[in-house]
Amino acid sequence: MLFKQQALLRQKLFVLGSLAIGSLLYLVARVGSLDRLQPLCPIDGRFGPRSQDDIPLRALQFKRGLLHEFRKGNATKEQIRLHNLVQQLPKAIIIGVRKGGTRALLEMLNLHPAVVKASQEIHFFDNDENYAKGIEWYRKKMPFSYPHQITIEKSPAYFITEEVPERIYKMNSSIKLLIIVREPTTRAISDYTQVLEGKERKNKTYYKFEKLAIDPNTCEVNTKYKAVRTSIYTKHLERWLKYFPIEQFHIVDGDRLITEPLPELQLVEKFLNLPPRISQYNLYFNATRGFYCLRFNIVFNKCLAGSKGRIHPEVDTSVITKLRKFFHPFNQKFYQITGRTFNWP
Ligand code: A3P
Repeated sequence: MLFKQQALLRQKLFVLGSLAIGSLLYLVARVGSLDRLQPLCPIDGRFGPRSQDDIPLRALQFKRGLLHEFRKGNATKEQIRLHNLVQQLPKAIIIGVRKGGTRALLEMLNLHPAVVKASQEIHFFDNDENYAKGIEWYRKKMPFSYPHQITIEKSPAYFITEEVPERIYKMNSSIKLLIIVREPTTRAISDYTQVLEGKERKNKTYYKFEKLAIDPNTCEVNTKYKAVRTSIYTKHLERWLKYFPIEQFHIVDGDRLITEPLPELQLVEKFLNLPPRISQYNLYFNATRGFYCLRFNIVFNKCLAGSKGRIHPEVDTSVITKLRKFFHPFNQKFYQITGRTFNWP
């Protein structure tokens, strides 16, 4: 009899224990899923001193959940008013450079609790049709955020498009501009690789990089080739400098963002006058991907899509040497203007 009672008690304890563990796991997963859906910093305490205007943690998580609903367009006007949510024009824009690591930079900055990213490339300033729709159209493309947060968008085509500096200046002459660059020849090959992959997907053939990058008649670098032109950073920057002083730009080292992202992100935090909140906890190296990935909390993390970090085709070394020699004087000028020197060959 006593043995039977003990067995029953053990059974009850087991059921209760399982329920408690189950609830705990559910809670952890729930918090995680909200965080994963949100660009906001997930767990307040992780960043040490309380930020987010001292909103209690539970309220903050609730609000984050709401933000997601709002972004999906489910919000009523009343809810938006009640929670003081706004769609704000960007205070900073990642204007380029294509294949420099613009997506990684945006996603990583988005780990900061005061930053909200526009997920899509909006192409407002470089696309005449979009630009004609007006600034309100642009603002409505922005995610909902709390007034103390800043919105950031990225459209790498801005850097090389003639009309863009003047258009951005007209919107906000004191906006902060981020440019992420990589060693110019590597960037050009990365650019080529993206186009090549697009062609292959459509079962089309494409020229070899060498054929595009070198003019067959002169055997010199083909400056008409877009992937080459985009890598002449100084030429593009000089157009921007007609509108904005150099202090409004911050140059991010895209090669270092791959190997050692945190110090680069800390420099951006400083440039944007944000308190340092992104930590090593938020970034972990994923050996399978060969890149740093983002950690939101103990449950949720995310790597960039497979289209980021493609394997480049092998390129003739003499072509690489020729390109590096070609870019060299432009690079020197770029270092001189920006005050940031790289170890590019
Ligand atoms: P590759 O595909 O040449 O390796 P963008 O977002 O501007 O198109 O830039 C793409 C590049 O971002 C990739 O170029 C990749 O090297 C780089 N990158 C930087 N950090 C990365 C990360 N954490 N995960 C994946 N790619 C990253």
